[in-house]
Amino acid sequence: MNASEIRQKYLDFQSSKGHRVIAPAPLVLENDPTTLFTGSGMQPLLRYLLGEPHPDGTRLTDSQPCLRLQDIEDVGDPRHTTVFEMLGNWSLGDYFKKEQIENYFEFLTKIIGLDPNKIFVTCFIGSEKYGIPKDIEAAEIWQSVFKKAGIDAKIAEIDTAENGDKRGIKDGERIFFYNDKENWWSRGGGIETTPIGDPCGPDSEVFYDFGEDKQDVEKYGKSHPASDGARFMEIGNQVFMQYRRNEDGTFSELEHKNVDFGGGLERLAAAQMGSFDVFKTSLMQPIIKKLEQLSGKSYDNNTDEMRIICDHLRGAYLLAAQGLAPSNKAQGYALRRLIRRAILKALDLGIAQDFLKETISTIESEYKSLPDSILTNRDHALEILEKEEKVFRKTLNKGLKELKRMASRRGEKSPSSGDPDKSARPQALEAKLSGYDVFTLQDTYGFPMEISVEEAYKEGIKLSKDWKQEFDAALQEQRERSKTASKGMFKGGLEDHGEQTTKYHTATHLLLAALQKHVSSDICQKGSNITADRMRFDFNCDHKLSPEELKQVEDQVNEWIKADLPVAFAEYDKEYAKNVLKAHGQFWDKYPEKLKVYTVGNENSPVSREVCGGPHVEHTGVLGQFKIQKEESSSAGVRRIKAVLE
Ligand code: ALA
Repeated sequence: MNASEIRQKYLDFQSSKGHRVIAPAPLVLENDPTTLFTGSGMQPLLRYLLGEPHPDGTRLTDSQPCLRLQDIEDVGDPRHTTVFEMLGNWSLGDYFKKEQIENYFEFLTKIIGLDPNKIFVTCFIGSEKYGIPKDIEAAEIWQSVFKKAGIDAKIAEIDTAENGDKRGIKDGERIFFYNDKENWWSRGGGIETTPIGDPCGPDSEVFYDFGEDKQDVEKYGKSHPASDGARFMEIGNQVFMQYRRNEDGTFSELEHKNVDFGGGLERLAAAQMGSFDVFKTSLMQPIIKKLEQLSGKSYDNNTDEMRIICDHLRGAYLLAAQGLAPSNKAQGYALRRLIRRAILKALDLGIAQDFLKETISTIESEYKSLPDSILTNRDHALEILEKEEKVFRKTLNKGLKELKRMASRRGEKSPSSGDPDKSARPQALEAKLSGYDVFTLQDTYGFPMEISVEEAYKEGIKLSKDWKQEFDAALQEQRERSKTASKGMFKGGLEDHGEQTTKYHTATHLLLAALQKHVSSDICQKGSNITADRMRFDFNCDHKLSPEELKQVEDQVNEWIKADLPVAFAEYDKEYAKNVLKAHGQFWDKYPEKLKVYTVGNENSPVSREVCGGPHVEHTGVLGQFKIQKEESSSAGVRRIKAVLE
């Protein structure tokens, strides 16, 4: 059974159980300003899960393409992908736990033929703090479902995954209780981080067992469903969405109880073929085969690289086919990042020529079943990607050539420089690439610093001992230069002033977020004053910040700068910005009904979200080094921080 067949069987099966098949939503949701991309099947249905009647009734099903960029660093293992298809079914105040559990078990064991002995499940252990009971009901339904399949499923109390890693599974255990880290679903993760206003609830996850021998016990501990490692793979999550989070942090029952089921098609397809590697499925294999052919290397020996390229190309295709163009902002930047990462990884495999078009065209047919209303730009997707590839490759080639030229020039110059002692100083000869060179590569050739370092390492070119300091010094020099230059060019240095103040403006948002995180969540902005040379920031706080607190705050801001987080804005209704997004604002009663909110970082779990008119930089990476110069009292209960960007 290939993945397309499984998708079809699922939709047919759910139809036979009274569900209406609905069209999936685009990856970039027009009316959902809370996230960059659609990350789950429920997201486009949010309002219906909160009670609004859906035009297609109370039983719905679809297969929703999703993109979770927050998982990008995990890609490379056998099962994580940024892009995936989520098979989903929903009960909007219709059936509940029993019918959901029975149906999904039937689908798995009868429709796609999984061995019931290989199925393990988890349920929510409850939360005393929030008055949410242990989900004994779900566990008992599971027991009876297994019993009908001739399996005596025992229930285990594990609570946390860590306890489980020590304890493992005892005889006959098949149903496991865990805490909210594993078995509570909201768009914000666990109970504490459930967003205000969002529907949420306990969930029951379903796992496929690939066999005890797949577990690397030394690395991951003993196996149990929620353990890391290759033995178990989650193949479905049934959220019993019966709560909504209130303003004050408590939970109240929704009037109608919903079921929100989601299962990754790639994982189901892998389990169905008995492979714990989703990259072996029909959705991915055409790309992997193409990469093997182009590189002359095998998947088995180059697994991580090929997985990353495969994942990113699928994501890039879906985004481009939906009409997104690479850019330096928000979603467009994510697309650019996927493409560039894939190209760099392909270089590692020795694929130095253009390869996006011919590689991606191998999976175009996988997306035939997605409606044109989503893939509006299907016909131009490959063109867009090809163009971006050419631009990036030019940058890379120029940079690489220049890097080698710089290195060889230095290597030759030293021995013939007329200093007789030089030959006796091999260390000086070895330092072939300085931090100044690395800076020139980045500044003039657009060749990123990280790539220079990596390439130098690969080519056996040594970097000077203080290359990083040299790089930073060059950066600083350039900043100073450009300040004078623009002062001369534009009266009063207005242009430069604009650029610098924009940076300080963004730094203010980061500083506030860092203070809230490390000093007190009650901290609000009480005033701010920015010039091209420094920032001053006033905030409420009942004590003088200790040197430790100042350091934590400063380090935090620099960490966010280094992470080069995207900065994006959108317009919202005031009520939504305040109560749902929980954006930071100073003057709620003075704001107009529609306002602009700036978000720094991932839209799902932003570093900062503030009502603000802007402007801001597009990426935190351009801010430079953040340095707190002074912390002092401003007035009673108000502290002042003076800081610079270096
Ligand atoms: N919304 C649920 C999930 O994403 C099904 O896991």
